[in-house]
Amino acid sequence: MDSSSTFWLPTKASTFTGHIDTFFYVLMWLSLFFFLAIVIAMGVFVYKYWRKRPDQLAQAQITHNAHLEFWWTFIPLIMVIVFFFYGFKGFLDMNIAPANAMQIKVRAQKWSWAFEYPEGASSDTLVVPVNHPVELVMFSRDVLHSFFVPAFRVKNDVIPNRYTRVWFHATTTGTFPVWCAEFCGTNHSNMLTAVRVLEFGDYENWLKGASDPGKGLAPVEFGKLLYTKRGCSSCHTLDGSKLVGPSWKGMWGTSRKLTSGLSVTADENYVRNSMMNPQGEVVEGFPPVMPPFKGILSDKEVDALIAFIQSLK
Ligand code: CUA
Repeated sequence: MDSSSTFWLPTKASTFTGHIDTFFYVLMWLSLFFFLAIVIAMGVFVYKYWRKRPDQLAQAQITHNAHLEFWWTFIPLIMVIVFFFYGFKGFLDMNIAPANAMQIKVRAQKWSWAFEYPEGASSDTLVVPVNHPVELVMFSRDVLHSFFVPAFRVKNDVIPNRYTRVWFHATTTGTFPVWCAEFCGTNHSNMLTAVRVLEFGDYENWLKGASDPGKGLAPVEFGKLLYTKRGCSSCHTLDGSKLVGPSWKGMWGTSRKLTSGLSVTADENYVRNSMMNPQGEVVEGFPPVMPPFKGILSDKEVDALIAFIQSLK
């Protein structure tokens, strides 16, 4: 199967590309055909029936033509009925996952993605085996996002307080972009990740390594890994520049002025509290937009992040 991208469509990497791409091209060329046919006929008629002299009489009015009116109604009717059945079949295929599909949980939040696997592993890029149906069960921790993998031709809204799903069957190994396709605030355009499609054996090996990501790492190293993996990096920089939230560089041990007017020292308790209950102590000059990580970060992960922040002099 030729999987390369074309001028009109991205790389093909799932079983959905067949009918979606065919449908897309049929609709596009048909639209182009009718657009040209109508515009050219209009131009010809404008020219042909132009009133060229002031004494020229108006053309005789033609009230109707039964044959023409029948065919220009009947042919489009057949066309839309065919499109409906073709589209409805595709809609059902894309909405009902096969019974043997493997389930992965997707959690969206401003502005990162997290993926949780049945074996307890988690990651910030989606990793899936090739030639195996995969169903994603998705929810949002804050606002409306949309999970979109152009190469798979799958997209669905990710909504707070409700699970939504997509499924796909990847046909090619490789790495393909994942976008958030619903405007969700300041960093929406950076809410990007990727899906890595691996051979089944490689996927199983990856899963083994990913089930305990902190294993064998010093807390500072683990914290550094979590900084991107848990999405901290979408709001907090490490170089002192201001993003959505305060930079972590040089923060440790300083006095933080809060919106409540009080001040607090950036120590272990402050950092832990900021993760568990971010709205409790908001630093002056920043919007109270951070989602709570209570129940998401383990104690080990909190300690690792504290160690990492502490190391950023
Ligand atoms: Cu999330 Cu846009």
